[in-house]
Formats: sequence, C-alpha cells, structure tokens
Amino acid sequence: MVNLVEEHNIAVIPGDLNGITVTNAVVKVSEALSELLLKPIKHTTFNYNADYFLENNLTELGEKELSELKKYDQIFLGAIGDPTKIKPGILEVGILLKLRQAFDQYVNLRPVVLPQGVPSILVGKTYEDINFEICRENSEGLYVDDGHIENQGTDDEVGVQIMKCSYKGVKRLAEFAVERALARKKTEIPTLHFVFKTNVLRFAGAPWQRVFDEMKDRQDLIVKYMHIDNFLMQMLINPKQFDVVITENMFGDIATDAGAVIQGGIGSAVSGNINPKGTFPSMFEPIHGTAPDRWYEVDKNGGYVKGSYVAEKTQTVKPEAAFMSYAMMLEQMNEPKAAAALKEAALNNIRNENYKDMLLDELVENATEFIKGYKG
Ligand code: IPM
Ligand code: MN
Repeated sequence: MVNLVEEHNIAVIPGDLNGITVTNAVVKVSEALSELLLKPIKHTTFNYNADYFLENNLTELGEKELSELKKYDQIFLGAIGDPTKIKPGILEVGILLKLRQAFDQYVNLRPVVLPQGVPSILVGKTYEDINFEICRENSEGLYVDDGHIENQGTDDEVGVQIMKCSYKGVKRLAEFAVERALARKKTEIPTLHFVFKTNVLRFAGAPWQRVFDEMKDRQDLIVKYMHIDNFLMQMLINPKQFDVVITENMFGDIATDAGAVIQGGIGSAVSGNINPKGTFPSMFEPIHGTAPDRWYEVDKNGGYVKGSYVAEKTQTVKPEAAFMSYAMMLEQMNEPKAAAALKEAALNNIRNENYKDMLLDELVENATEFIKGYKG
C-alpha cells in the first residue's frame, strides 16, 4: 500500500458509459469532504474499460494491471460494459470477476435498506420493514467461471457450468456475517439467515449445511436456514424478519437486484466487494450497470446502434448509488464523518420531491452544498 500514513490512496476505475458519468460526479462531490476527513484522499484513475481491452487486445486484466491496482488502499469502480464495442460477458468476467477473485474480495456486501422518507414499491412497507444486509459469497459458487461445452455445434451440445462451494469459503463468509450481525444489533439477539438450495443442490449444498450445523446453536445469534426460492418470496411478503443474510454468489446476485427494487430502486443500490482481511484492496461499486439502452438508439433486432451516443444524455443519469457506494468505502476506511455526510447528501437528493426530473449537474451541486453545510 502507498503512503499509508499521509493519505488514502484510491484507485478509480470509471469504466464505460454510465460508469464514467457517475464516477466523475462522485469524484467531484468528494472534494467537498475535505474538512470531514481524518486523512486526505488521493484518486488515481485507471481506464480499464471496453476501449482499453480493444487497444490492448485483452480478454481479462493481467498481471500488469493487477500489480498496479494492488498498491492502492481501495478501489472505486463506476460500471463496465459497452455492447457496441465488446460483446457482453468479456468485461464482466475479465474485470469484475477477475478482480473479485484475484483480490480475494470474498464478501459482496449489499445492504437492502429503505431510507426514511423514500417510498417502496411494496405497499405499506416503510423503513422499519426493509432493513437488512445480504452478504453475497463473492469468490466462488456458480461464478468461478469453470465448465465446458460438449459436442459444440451438434444436436448433442451440452453446456456445463460448475458451482463450487468450499467449506472454508462458506465458513469465512459466515464469520464475516456474524460480526456484521453482532455490530448491527438490529434486535437484542440478531438473526443470521443461511440461504441456499440444499434440497436440490446436494453437492454444492453440503458445505453450506455443514457450516450452518456448526453455528445453529450459538447463544448470541438466532441462526436460521431458508431456501433461495422461499427467501425471494419472503423478501416481498415479510422483509422485516431479515437482519443479516448469507448466500451463494449467483443467488446473491439475483436476490440483491430484487432487494434494490424494494429499497427504492436500482439507482440507490450499493455494493462493496470486500476483502475483510485487508490482504488486497476492496472494491466499491454501484449495483447498476452502464445502461447502454439509455445511451444508444436501438435497431429493429434490439441491437444498439454504434455511434448513436448523445452526450447530453449524461444529464439524466442519477449518481446517488455511486455516492452511497463511495460512502461505504469511506466507512471501511474509518472515515465515519465523511461517510455519513456523503450518504446523507445522496439521500437528501433521493428524497427531493422533484428527484425524477432533476438533472445530473443539479444533483452534484445539491450534494456538494449539503456536505458543506453538514453538521453531523
Ligand atoms: C452485479 C452484476 C455483476 C455481478 C456481473 C455483471 C458480473 O450483475 O453487479 O450485480 O454479478 O455482480
Ligand atoms: Mn447483478
């Protein structure tokens, strides 16, 4: 890590399209945080995106990029993907999954918290009902990118994708979640849910069952198990019962998109790819992607028209999920005051009754002013 004492060194990967827009916005707003910080922040930008992959003929980040990024305290990532340049799948695996695995960011922390004063699409549910955290396993499961295609191109073609769940992998995730639950203190005795599909996935489910059995009799926690299909229903029917939830990588991916929608929309969903041991930098990113549908015209087959990009559309992009992901990063950096100010600034925008119609410059300006007047 560089200059540990004097400043926080943040590697910034804006990515593509929306990612660049929200990253510029958050970097700008972060300048207003200086008086609330214990140590100043230094941003260094890395343009690892569709163009970079094309120019360097890459299919994934290599040793060169990893050894660069490794030097930083944390990574902030906007969003990656531009289907007019590279077909979907390459950057997702070659940047996101690659970094999560190479830097052992084995927890993907995705809070599902409906802020006070923000409506949920779940009729009658308030912030008292929707307040939990999903700790998605982030280094293995169905996203290990392992498998093969048999008899490709023939009628007997079979695609095999491996779901790999290790005892150590589930255990370290569960240990992280226990700490979160005990620290959150949602109720006197917090609740930890294990979510999987042990009734069908007998092999991958075995370590989940084993770790659950080891933990289920704890005195300081209520430890429960739920199948993923039931969990998705319960999230809609009775979200109040959840406190901290752990689940497999793909289950967590799917559940957190649904979670984003019930907590006020994907535009407010934050995510931290965390290496709890600090052996490599963690990485923070809004859950939304690059939204190519908002940037490009669509042809009759649903494809994006190359070059139809209209720069003014940047003004319709909402940066609040990026603000709150950056705030989560500040929390991890032990900068609680700056974190709270930035998060509140984002929520203040979201709560504005004209939020839907507000343009990007105005949202950035409002957030900056809010932080300058923040008293804590
Ligand atoms: C998300 C996305 C990514 C993920 C993909 C693109 C790798 O779906 O941030 O939720 O699975 O995390
Ligand atoms: Mn997703």
